[in-house]
Order: sequence, then C-alpha cells, then structure tokens
Amino acid sequence: MTKLVSDKVFNQRKIVIASHNRGKIREIKNLLKPLKIDILSADNFNLQEPIEDGLSFEENALIKSSYVSKITGIPSLSDDSGICFSDLNNKPGVFSARWAGEDKNFSLAMAKINNEIQKVKKPNYECFFVCALSLCWPDGSNITVSGKIHGKFSWPPKGNYGFGYDPIFRPLDYDKTFAEMLPELKHNISHRAIAFKKLVNLCFPSLKN
Ligand code: IMP
Repeated sequence: MTKLVSDKVFNQRKIVIASHNRGKIREIKNLLKPLKIDILSADNFNLQEPIEDGLSFEENALIKSSYVSKITGIPSLSDDSGICFSDLNNKPGVFSARWAGEDKNFSLAMAKINNEIQKVKKPNYECFFVCALSLCWPDGSNITVSGKIHGKFSWPPKGNYGFGYDPIFRPLDYDKTFAEMLPELKHNISHRAIAFKKLVNLCFPSLKN
C-alpha cells in the first residue's frame, strides 16, 4: 500500500504524465512548462493503462501515478476527474468517462443524465466537478490533492468550448455553462485549477506567482 505524505518539493529533472489522453497531456504540459524540465508521457514508454478500481478520484489518480512511476523509475503526475449529481446519489462520479461508452459519446452521456434526473421527484439540480492530481515518486511517496467546483445541472446542453460534460454544468455565481465560457475563464476557476494550485503550493514552489 502506498503511503501518503504531507509535502515534498519536486526537484527532479524529469516527470512522466500518467495519461494517454492528449487533451490532458497538453493541459498539464502547459502548466508545468515554466519548470523547464523534461516532460514525458505514458505514450513514450508504451505503457498499458492500469485498472482504475479505486472508490474515489484520489485513489484512482494514485493508482495511475504510482503504476507509472514504479515502472519508469521517474516521478509521475496523474489526473482523475469527473462529475457528480446530487439527484443521482453523486453518479456518475468515478464512472464519468464510462457513461460516455467506448465511443466517448458525451451527447449520449448528457442525455442519460437528463433522463435520470427527469425521473427524480423533486430534483435540486446540484452537482460538482472533482479533479484529483497525484504526484508519485518511484519509492511510493506521493502528494495527492483534489479540487472541487459546485454548480447546477443545466438543460439543454449549451456552448461549444471545452469538452465532456461542460455543456450541462453551470458553476454557481455564473450565468453560463463551462462550455459557453472562454477557456481562460474556465481554466482559472475549474476543479483542475483548484487542485493544481494546491499541488503547486506543496510541490512546485517556483511556480507560485
Ligand atoms: P478520467 O479520464 O478517467 O479522469 O475521466 C474523466 C471524465 O470526466 C471524462 O469523462 C471527462 O469528460 C469528465 N471530465 C473531467 N473533467 C471535466 C471537465 O473539466 N469538463 C467536462 N468533463 C470533464
């Protein structure tokens, strides 16, 4: 079992992003660019994906980062994220990707969520996005943090920016869905931005502004 530690400054020259998702790799590479270190991804090592059978986003993120860091001998950073609807007992949660099926059809996944919520007697439409980021070293020590943003289910889907469930998520205090917002705004307030700020504070002090 991998042990949790409370802080550990990253001072290595290489990092592997534990993902095959090009969008995530691009986003994380951009965030880490100022470190001027070698940023590799799981694709560079021909790695298979580990089975994500954790019960939480944090557990799944740690499964991915510890698997990749152990095999490569290089510290690894992973992202596990998804959306939870209060009316659906926080589903789809860690199964957010799976609700879109093998074809990654998010129109279908969003319609499924709408259908399920329609069946609820007095829906409150509350929901939240979660992002867990896990940085793991080859010796198993790791920093795993998460960020959350609350909002309301919005139907029909609106907006063309972003990806996944963005068109049906309207963050609290905003009158637009994530998919209607300019990406700069979403990237400033999102669950991923909140988690990344926590990780920077603990592990990448040189990235603090
Ligand atoms: P993962 O790759 O297993 O972490 O799956 C993440 C799932 O949550 C995917 O289905 C994504 O589309 C969805 N998701 C995570 N973050 C976001 C976001 O910022 N916007 C929209 N969908 C997201």
